[in-house]
Amino acid sequence: MTTYSTTSSGNTIVDGPLSEQTYGRSILPAAAYTDPQEFAREQRMIFSAEWVWAGYTHWVGNEGDVHPVEVAGKPLLIVRDGEGNVNVFHNSCRHRGMVVTQEPIEVTQRIQCAYHCWSYNLDGSLAAAPYFNRERRGAPSPEARRKLGLLPVPSAVWAGMVFVNLSDAPTPFEDVIKPLAERWSHIDFDRLHLARERKFDLAVNWKLAVENFLDFYHLPFVHPQVGPVAASLDVDDVVIDSDVIVGGCYPRGAEGKAKKSEDALPFIGDVPAGKVASQDIFCVFPNALVFLEADWFQVIALSPAAADRTVEHMAVFVDESAADPRFAESVSSLCDVLFHVNEQDIPFLYKLQAGRASDGANHTTLLPSWDQITAMFQTAVAARMGYSK
Ligand code: FES
Ligand SMILES: [Fe+2]
Repeated sequence: MTTYSTTSSGNTIVDGPLSEQTYGRSILPAAAYTDPQEFAREQRMIFSAEWVWAGYTHWVGNEGDVHPVEVAGKPLLIVRDGEGNVNVFHNSCRHRGMVVTQEPIEVTQRIQCAYHCWSYNLDGSLAAAPYFNRERRGAPSPEARRKLGLLPVPSAVWAGMVFVNLSDAPTPFEDVIKPLAERWSHIDFDRLHLARERKFDLAVNWKLAVENFLDFYHLPFVHPQVGPVAASLDVDDVVIDSDVIVGGCYPRGAEGKAKKSEDALPFIGDVPAGKVASQDIFCVFPNALVFLEADWFQVIALSPAAADRTVEHMAVFVDESAADPRFAESVSSLCDVLFHVNEQDIPFLYKLQAGRASDGANHTTLLPSWDQITAMFQTAVAARMGYSK
């Protein structure tokens, strides 16, 4: 049971891991942000062990779209089949194990490996393997076709994103996402329209990107343009599931939206009056950072590449009716604002990473008044990695 306390300004702070302390110590050691061995261990203990963000559904918008990705260092293929389903496979030809493609491709019906021209149907099954038995017309037997298909990876689609689970016995994704899906049941994610997408290749550990996203304290200092100090500090801690989904809510962050002007963006679904002004900011553990308002949805998804390197896939979505040209200017200025905020953070991320080399890095402080959510994220990492307090 999550409990909260209330500040004098009326915001709620979760009584998290720091509540017994005046000045909390960082829960993760500095090496967790810098050490290649710890990075490799994380890839096993976290990114190969539970549901993780792997890509966007719009990367495979049409039947026959094939998009290679890497999760936990493992090459995967995201494929849209003829029924509109998104399937994920290990990107490894069942013959000699060549990756089937390293670039996004569009195929009409079959995905072909270039080495000996085996081809696979969009559901992964083996379609053809020329000269299979050295005969001119030699084709694999029905049994071989069944057995030699691309190996499937458990996957799930939610809110425009593709999640995969590389573990042996995945819990159903629906169970993991259910509490957040319920909180956001007023949003119709089938209506998402991609407004803008950009990749940021950053020399920073992925956890610093998460922690910065969950850090509401820095907003008035680093992003003064987002509003007056009082407004940017008016944020509540929210714990949806301490193990996987933590973040915050600006209950009045988008005030003014109720009075809609002509070119105001349409809401993504039937948003009740009580939720029109609220902004939700969550980390879906480990690597999907999501930000929702009534009329837009932002994702910063993290692909960790090394202890000190992370690729951010940032995308902003609006309602499909906002694709109408009359909203073009509003959509474009919204994206300008959101991408600018992300760019503003980059030099700070770099300096946070640089600071992890300091002898002081194991003596940093998490404040009970501000950093409970970060502490919960760190606790979630520590539990999986076996770091003791
Ligand atoms: S390795 Fe793919 S067909 Fe031989
Ligand atoms: Fe920021």
